[in-house]
Amino acid sequence: MASPALELKAVTRRFPARDRAAPPFTAIERLSFQVGEGEFVALVGPSGCGKSTVLNLVAGLDRPSEGEVFLGAEQVTGPNSHVGFMLQKDLLLPWRSIRRNVEFGLEARGLTREERAARIARELRRCRLTEFADRYPHQLSGGQRQRAALARTLAIDPALVLLDEPFSALDAQTKILLQRSFAQTIAASGVTTLLITHDLNEAVAMSDRILVMSERPGRVVEEITVGLPDRDNPVARQSMPRALELMRHLLHALHLDDRVDA
Ligand SMILES: Nc1ncnc2c1ncn2[C@@H]1O[C@H](COP(=O)(O)OP(=O)(O)OP(=O)(O)O)[C@@H](O)[C@H]1O
Ligand SMILES: [Mg+2]
Repeated sequence: MASPALELKAVTRRFPARDRAAPPFTAIERLSFQVGEGEFVALVGPSGCGKSTVLNLVAGLDRPSEGEVFLGAEQVTGPNSHVGFMLQKDLLLPWRSIRRNVEFGLEARGLTREERAARIARELRRCRLTEFADRYPHQLSGGQRQRAALARTLAIDPALVLLDEPFSALDAQTKILLQRSFAQTIAASGVTTLLITHDLNEAVAMSDRILVMSERPGRVVEEITVGLPDRDNPVARQSMPRALELMRHLLHALHLDDRVDA
């Protein structure tokens, strides 16, 4: 059988306690999951349960204390060029035009000028930014900047895209528009995607499968197959009866339906 696109095998990450005499602090413990080729998986869980820690391990920016991370058949041992990483903040370079920002990740890849130009054109088109190619980041709206960041991420043809709360800094309406735009672009590219989000509606609307993490030390306590059609249309998905059922299920799984404390 082909390897999954991503696999975490019993991954534990401990951080040294601030007080050196105290025992180390366990952020995630024996965490295991797989993401299949072309699948869109959402990771949800309470604040501080280790979601960003997971992404850093997958991106190779951090190493597990125990356990292994595999990207396809290859073990992740450091940063690698097959993973595209996008955060809440767009991290576009303010002194470069949008076109040159999209070009940024391609510069060290040994592509010819023509190949680079073709990739940039493809992603700008896919992210509906062609007409903004020569603008600078400060001349774009927050939503357009996030689309430019996605174009830059996809331009490297990643085997896996990691999204860490990419919409959480946006207003509610822009967020809905951008979720749709991202869903369409990602579905069109077919890229394997792991999304971290606090927004349970977003997890339901955008993903094929949802992994629910426990409070720290984080482990996967539940896996939910979304089973909704039309992954490229999150708005339509949210109003389907099954979406409501999934929401109720998730609220319960995260113990949010029976808590009065905040
Ligand atoms: N480099 C580090 N050194 C020490 N502790 C860390 C480090 N990185 C993360 N932690 C701790 O590990 C735990 C998990 O952090 P992480 O950022 O992964 O949580 P999260 O689930 O992404 O939270 P949020 O939803 O608030 O973004 C937290 O308690 C955090 O303080
Ligand atoms: Mg986080």
